Amino acid sequence: MSSLSSQLQKTVEPQYIRAPKGLQNVIVDQTRISGVDPKGETTIYRGYLIEDLARALTFEEAAFLFLYGHLPSEEEVKEFSQKLNRERVVPEEVYEIFEKMPRTTHPMAILRTGISFLGTLDEKADDLSKENLYETAIKLIAKTATIAANGYRITRGMEPVKPDPSLPHALDSLRMIIGREPSKLEARAFESSLILYMDHGFNASTFTVRVIASTLSDMYSAVTGGVGALKGPLHGGANEKAMYMLLEIGSKEKARQYILDKLARKEKIMGFGHRVYKVKDPRVDVAKEYLRKMAKTNPEAQKYLELCEEIEKIMWEQKKLPANIDFYTAPLYYLMGIPIEMYTPIFAMARVVGWTSHYIEQLENNKIIRPKEEYVGPVGLKLPPEKQPKEDP
Ligand SMILES: CC(C)(COP(=O)(O)OP(=O)(O)OC[C@H]1O[C@@H](n2cnc3c(N)ncnc32)[C@H](O)[C@@H]1OP(=O)(O)O)[C@@H](O)C(=O)NCCC(=O)NCCS
Repeated sequence: MSSLSSQLQKTVEPQYIRAPKGLQNVIVDQTRISGVDPKGETTIYRGYLIEDLARALTFEEAAFLFLYGHLPSEEEVKEFSQKLNRERVVPEEVYEIFEKMPRTTHPMAILRTGISFLGTLDEKADDLSKENLYETAIKLIAKTATIAANGYRITRGMEPVKPDPSLPHALDSLRMIIGREPSKLEARAFESSLILYMDHGFNASTFTVRVIASTLSDMYSAVTGGVGALKGPLHGGANEKAMYMLLEIGSKEKARQYILDKLARKEKIMGFGHRVYKVKDPRVDVAKEYLRKMAKTNPEAQKYLELCEEIEKIMWEQKKLPANIDFYTAPLYYLMGIPIEMYTPIFAMARVVGWTSHYIEQLENNKIIRPKEEYVGPVGLKLPPEKQPKEDP
């Protein structure tokens, strides 16, 4: 090593901080949007407990709170809802690209492509003025629901259900997915689940969005990236797997053997465990309340409630692991008649509120997110003679 490079190394190297794999336990930035409370027991959304908001707010009120940082006045929520309802309409060109997609396209790939394509149709996509960022966020929140629902319907050979601007966002989104008017209880349970999924600190997809925002790329690119990250089975997708498992088990009586066998094979039980909540996921209580309400009149809901509670009991007894939110949204969505493949796109329909809020926050005090690698590959290799530069002709 030359004396200059060894000198450089001496002066530069001490500035580096070696982060653990997966950035586990590394605080990368501050946020005022959401995070786990200091005791690690629940999540705070803009100062409020997540469970309080999921029980009391509408989708529109919660989305407003995320974007603007305060609860809306009556006038503000009215105006916000009108915009959101208008913006659920998507251009016809978007429907045309769904028709060109193979029937087997993954619903998250449909959504990713749809959002990316939508960006090409918005001539103001690259306008990063504050005013336009809020307008773009509303467009993205509104249209993600329509793209997710109708992209799925069209690729699967069904007729699209066009949005109805006279309906509230969550109800209309569910109506587009299931192709019928939901009951009041279904619509409210769905709305509440969307609030529970809206944000969760610097999770992988939100961090992806912030990385893309930090390059000053447009919001459509950032949300497209967020959908891409959420598509991965280690992030979104646990609710789908939990539902397939519940269907496989079938009844409360078969639960114990099934779970014990799976644990003996060292397999994970989907819908259990959490990086942060080690004793209880507070979101479970809210989702379970809706399952209980459904169970009052629907024997199938009662069956799933009993099955889920039995598995919870076994998992606590065997592994001291609590159920997470996905374990209870799975049967809720199933009972509403939502296709299982749509569970992760629904997560995205909610999380887009967090993504767009984080995009805006990132730009308020931006620095490009560009960590340092540690190169551990070989050095000093020489190209073979046949690959040596040739004389210029
Ligand atoms: C969510 C999750 C990734 C959290 O991961 P984590 O905090 O890194 O926890 P770990 O993976 O280190 O697990 C700690 C221990 O519990 C076990 N464990 C964790 N989740 C488990 C599950 N769902 N089923 C069975 N065992 C589980 C691990 O095998 C590990 O056991 P060990 O110490 O004997 O090796 C993990 O619990 C998981 O994969 N859960 C299933 C998927 C899921 O429901 N995801 C949705 C999260 S909202």
